[in-house]
Amino acid sequence: MAAAAAGARINCFLNPINPLNSTRLTTHLHFRLSKKTFSARASANDPFVLTTPLYYVNAPPHMGSAYTTIAADAIARFQRLLGKTVIFITGTDEHGEKIATAAAANNSSPAQHCDLISQSYISLWKNLDIGYDKFIRTTDPKHEAIVKEFYSRVLNNGDIYRADYEGLYCISCEEYKDEKELLENNCCPTHLKPCVARKEDNFFFALSKYQKRLEETLAKNPNFVQPSYRLNEVQSWIKSGLRDFSISRALVDWGIPVPNDSKQTIYVWFDALLGYISALSDDMEQPSLGRAVSSGWPASLHLIGKDILRFHAVYWPAMLMSAGLGLPKMVFGHGFLTKDGMKMGKSLGNTIEPNDLVHKFGSDAVRYFFIREVEFGSDGDYSEDRFINIVNAHLANSIGNLLNRTLGLLKKNCQSTLVIDSSTAAEGTTFKDTVEKLVEKARVDYENLSLSSACEAVLEISNAGNSYMDGRAPWSLFKQGGDASEAAAKDLVIILEAMRIIAIALSPVTPSLSWRIYGQLGYSKDQFDAATWSDTKWGGLKGGQVMAQPQPIFARIESQTEEEKRVQAPEAPKKVKKNKLPKPQQVVEA
Ligand code: MSP
Repeated sequence: MAAAAAGARINCFLNPINPLNSTRLTTHLHFRLSKKTFSARASANDPFVLTTPLYYVNAPPHMGSAYTTIAADAIARFQRLLGKTVIFITGTDEHGEKIATAAAANNSSPAQHCDLISQSYISLWKNLDIGYDKFIRTTDPKHEAIVKEFYSRVLNNGDIYRADYEGLYCISCEEYKDEKELLENNCCPTHLKPCVARKEDNFFFALSKYQKRLEETLAKNPNFVQPSYRLNEVQSWIKSGLRDFSISRALVDWGIPVPNDSKQTIYVWFDALLGYISALSDDMEQPSLGRAVSSGWPASLHLIGKDILRFHAVYWPAMLMSAGLGLPKMVFGHGFLTKDGMKMGKSLGNTIEPNDLVHKFGSDAVRYFFIREVEFGSDGDYSEDRFINIVNAHLANSIGNLLNRTLGLLKKNCQSTLVIDSSTAAEGTTFKDTVEKLVEKARVDYENLSLSSACEAVLEISNAGNSYMDGRAPWSLFKQGGDASEAAAKDLVIILEAMRIIAIALSPVTPSLSWRIYGQLGYSKDQFDAATWSDTKWGGLKGGQVMAQPQPIFARIESQTEEEKRVQAPEAPKKVKKNKLPKPQQVVEA
């Protein structure tokens, strides 16, 4: 066992990440698992278990934290459409120095503080239409029991030992840092705050013992880390030599006591990672590691930001190996939402309030914008102008307007009733082939976690629909009467069938907008909820189906004028005129 000597200096091995690298993920999500390394093979009946990180409760959520959860929700909804049993896990990471300090700063006890902030995550997830299955808090007694059991198992396997620790600690990262990676004055490059010198007597996890097995695992399962360019980072960390890491804190009270030394608490990362397993534990049963594992472990997918890749792709698999548990099938490290090029974060205070965005623009717009505009894996900058332009062009115009004007024509000329089955209407048209190709592309993109491309493919269907509509001009065919009028009625069926397919194919990203589309097509909420991906097959709409009264499904967002932006800015509070803010959303005319 390396580094067992007292006073050993433990170095970090984090390499700087190249933010310019934006290779697209093209690999298929399903990959072959080696029997040796992964304890369970994926089978068709396995649940699809996906996780977001467990968010620190030092402060309420911001748009950066919401981003992972929105993406996870879209993936979960897509997998459910495929007919998979999904267990979507999220939660909050509530122990450690950073949380205790935040609680003290708010004149609150850590427990009260955690209750409050954890609740703010739950309420944001509701506002964003996040349909998680499990919400785990690391202060939950069932979690604590499972962490202790896991710790004892690793201890019994001889992978935990005692030693002195000395190094520079970033409290915001909750991590000892290597001096080489720090900026001037020992500042953490992520949080731009000085790290503090620490020396303590700790328990260590023998990570170095697992170097070879980790190398082999990654070599055999290159899809374990995604996007593929992040695998190189992970491999080079491992290659540069794994050092054992401290898994206890002598100076932190707010944590789970170490089973073999109650004066110390378990390091917050060793504790929190186990939330992915304890979340699976049934509340009605006595918590046990074995029972939790048998309820869905190993996870199919850990979605995380790139800053916490080392914990998930190096520490976590080694911990699992030590405890004799299976490894997750994939860890996907996405990029950052940035503001002026800097990672948006609580520490830098350059965040966007997601509840404000939802309040102003609605959850579909927020979800769509970040999924569509930020290529999953790469960084993406937010600007309100861009947000408004994209959402108006795609959701209000291309999709909303097309549906609205088609339903308007159907109402005027066909009493809102389809004259023919959509399969018959589309015979001999190339439009149907275009839709089929695009929807298949969207499916493959969703499976590959190319979420932005999936949205793009769906939007192309509506663009093709608009071109079809403009090319055919059914409004003038109706005026001609006779055969021309019949052809026009068929054209409307064709467009509405495309809208039905769009509604399902975009529902992972815009669930509530998709339901509004479905409702306009004369379906009930139960029918919408029962839809599966196989319903994206052409031919669902039948002759005789009566459409609902045409109503705009997505309100166009009006840009604020410069004057309105100025009066809203915090530096000009005196000029705020209550009755001028904000302009009411206006409705798109068909
Ligand atoms: N508590 C740990 C995770 C433990 S998981 C067992 C943690 N929490 S965090 O609240 O700091 O961050 C949670 C996630 O939010 C991370 O994946 C992080 O990358 C992500 N984001 C925080 N700011 C972000 C952006 N500005 N942009 C995108 N994601 C970002 O780390």
